Amino acid sequence: MQIVHTIAALRQVLKDRPAGTGAIALVPTMGNLHEGHLDLVRQARERAGASGTVVASIFVNRLQFAPHEDFDRYPRTLARDAELLAGAGCDLVFAPDEREMYPQPQRYQVVPDPALAELLEGHFRPGFFTGVCTVVMKLFTIVQPQLAVFGKKDYQQLMVIRRLVEQFALPIEVIAGETRRSAQGLALSSRNGYLSEAERAQALQLSAALRGLLERVRRDGAAAKLDEIEAEARAALAAQGWAPDYLTARRRSDLLAPEPAELAAGIALVALGAARLGSTRLIDNVEG
Ligand code: PAF
Repeated sequence: MQIVHTIAALRQVLKDRPAGTGAIALVPTMGNLHEGHLDLVRQARERAGASGTVVASIFVNRLQFAPHEDFDRYPRTLARDAELLAGAGCDLVFAPDEREMYPQPQRYQVVPDPALAELLEGHFRPGFFTGVCTVVMKLFTIVQPQLAVFGKKDYQQLMVIRRLVEQFALPIEVIAGETRRSAQGLALSSRNGYLSEAERAQALQLSAALRGLLERVRRDGAAAKLDEIEAEARAALAAQGWAPDYLTARRRSDLLAPEPAELAAGIALVALGAARLGSTRLIDNVEG
């Protein structure tokens, strides 16, 4: 496995691939990797095949952090990440620094459709998806992959990226990776490292609340009063010591609220939630 830090070096390595080699599969990350990321790399490996090239990018993208968020303390663990990536079947790591990715302030940005990007995460983190889309578009342009793998853990991000690819007619297949959970059911996340032992145990309450929310909506069907059910779920989580931003059941495809007729017909839903536990903000989702 090779590690490169510049766009020029990355392009050279990709250009030097022997003729007839397979697809380039990109797994974009911000590093501080866990088994969830490594699953995405394994999936990329499988899809790209033995003759393909799996590229993982590691870049903590300032553009997607608000000034009060954890950009400065986000763990940078390149040596450990590289070892893990090599073991998961990655061929090439692209780990640029900020000057390489943003040599000048990034004035040209990719602003996603507000109908999708200003809901939920986008509502609570204004500008977040513009930051994500801008860096992902830049990574796509640099790496020029045919395949790109994104985790379902960040469900809304996956939807936003799918639309980005559609709207710009990018010749890239976006592949969704399943969420990896601990034996107890906690969705693996780089930010779990901020949790204390006690908070880690308590963190399971978020996915439990989402499962409960989805079951309730399913049970009530067309009669489900979504606003009430969601408000109750938020209140129950708050009573357990959380500060919930949102807990909601949405149509899987576009994250809009389902209509009663759709609920009666049992359309595919996803329950999404974000809440703060102490000083750590966690997000999770459960498909049903
Ligand atoms: O999901 C992430 O880690 C980031 O949002 C991504 C896709 C690497 C863009 O910085």
